[in-house]
Amino acid sequence: MRIFLIGFMGSGKTHWGKLLSQKTGAPFFDLDKVIVDDEGKSIAQIFQEKGEEYFRYKEKEVMEQIVEEHENIILSCGGGTPCFFNNIDFMKDSGTVIWLNTCIDTLVERLLKEKNHRPLIKDIADKNLKAFILKKLQDRRLYYEQANIIAAEESLTIDSLSDLIRDRK
Ligand code: S3P
Repeated sequence: MRIFLIGFMGSGKTHWGKLLSQKTGAPFFDLDKVIVDDEGKSIAQIFQEKGEEYFRYKEKEVMEQIVEEHENIILSCGGGTPCFFNNIDFMKDSGTVIWLNTCIDTLVERLLKEKNHRPLIKDIADKNLKAFILKKLQDRRLYYEQANIIAAEESLTIDSLSDLIRDRK
């Protein structure tokens, strides 16, 4: 079983991914973290030194490699992963995709605290962050909505998430 967690920055992908990994026993991977280890650079450094386009290729390549090497995984993707190339189709062909649909105010609250290591938002003034998220979310929704499971993050528990996965099979 391969589970791909997708959703906006700050939607809780890593948090729920780790919990799912504990519950299912499937190993947890954080795509950003694998890229950081592979490159020996932070995501911010990769964006700055090599550009976003390089990062998007790398993201695709590393995801495909993880999938090739593992039948069972919980993979927490980056916020943009499903929105480039045909990544969303690749994920759905390889396993089950879950969109953590987290409400806008929660995203803003979390991202205000964690802006700095995220290159797409680090230079956005706090007062403009909500408008930025709304716009980006509008563009990305098209991809996120293609997930096999759409989970409202606010009301989620690990048991309800496991039930959603079980019922989908
Ligand atoms: C990005 C989200 C980040 C990271 C990179 C780009 C995005 O991951 O991949 O900064 O395009 O939304 P998180 O969603 O884990 O913050």
